[in-house]
Amino acid sequence: MRIVHISDTHVGAPEFRSELFTECIKEVNELSPDFVVHTGDLTNDGYRYQFEDAYDFLDKIETEIFIVPGNHDARNVGYLHFEEIFGARYTVFKDRDLLLVGVDTSEPDLEDGHLGRERQIWLENVFKGFDGFKIFLLHHHLVSVPFSGRERGVLYDAGEVLKILTDCNVDLVLSGHKHVPNAWRLENMFIINAGTASSLRLRGLITPCYNIIDIEEGEIKATLKFVGGALRDLLGDRARIRGLGLQY
Ligand SMILES: [Fe+2]
Ligand SMILES: [Fe+2]
Repeated sequence: MRIVHISDTHVGAPEFRSELFTECIKEVNELSPDFVVHTGDLTNDGYRYQFEDAYDFLDKIETEIFIVPGNHDARNVGYLHFEEIFGARYTVFKDRDLLLVGVDTSEPDLEDGHLGRERQIWLENVFKGFDGFKIFLLHHHLVSVPFSGRERGVLYDAGEVLKILTDCNVDLVLSGHKHVPNAWRLENMFIINAGTASSLRLRGLITPCYNIIDIEEGEIKATLKFVGGALRDLLGDRARIRGLGLQY
C-alpha cells in the first residue's frame, strides 16, 4: 500500500507558489499511490476563493484523497466553505484491512488545536476492536517536531489522544501544521509530520516537500520527497511494524 501525504498547501498566501503545487501533483500522480492524504491548511485564510482554487488543484489528483482542515482553514468561518467544497470535516473510511479516521482539530480564528472530550470518546469507539491497519489524520502535531522553532500549537489534549491511539494499537498518525517533516516512533505507532508542499512558509533549511509512505507486510517506509528534488529516508531501521497481512 502506498500513501502520499501532503500538507499545508496554504493556497492564497503571499508565499504560495502555484508552480510548486502543480509540480507536486504531477509527481504524486506519477507515484501511483493507493490514496493521498492532505493534513490541512489547504488555504491561508479560509476564504471561499482560496478553497475553490485549492479544489481545482486537488481535483487533478488521480486517486482518492482524504482531507482534514487546519487552523488556517477555520479562519473567517472558512470551515463552512470547507464543508461545502470538500465535504465532512470528520472522516471514517473502513474496509477489510484498513481503518482511516480523520478529525478536525481547528478552532475558529485560533492557531491552537483541540479534539475535546466528546470526540476523544468517539475516537476510542471508532478504533476499538478493529484488527487491521489503523491510520489517524489530524492537522496539529501530537508530539513536538525538532527544528521547528519554539514549541507551540501542539494539540491541547495531545496526552489523552496519544493514550487512546496507543491503547487502540493505531499504526500510523499523519499530521502537519509545523511545516517541518519528521517521523517519531512511539511504542508501535509511527507519528509522521509533513512539511508544506506548495508554499515558501518554511523553517530553516527545509524546502517544499511531502511524504511517501509505503506499507508492506511487517514494514513501513517513510520517504521525504522535496518537490522537484531529492528523496530522503525518514525512518531508517525503525521501520519494522507488527506483522499485518495488508492485502493491497
Ligand atoms: Fe500551515
Ligand atoms: Fe496550521
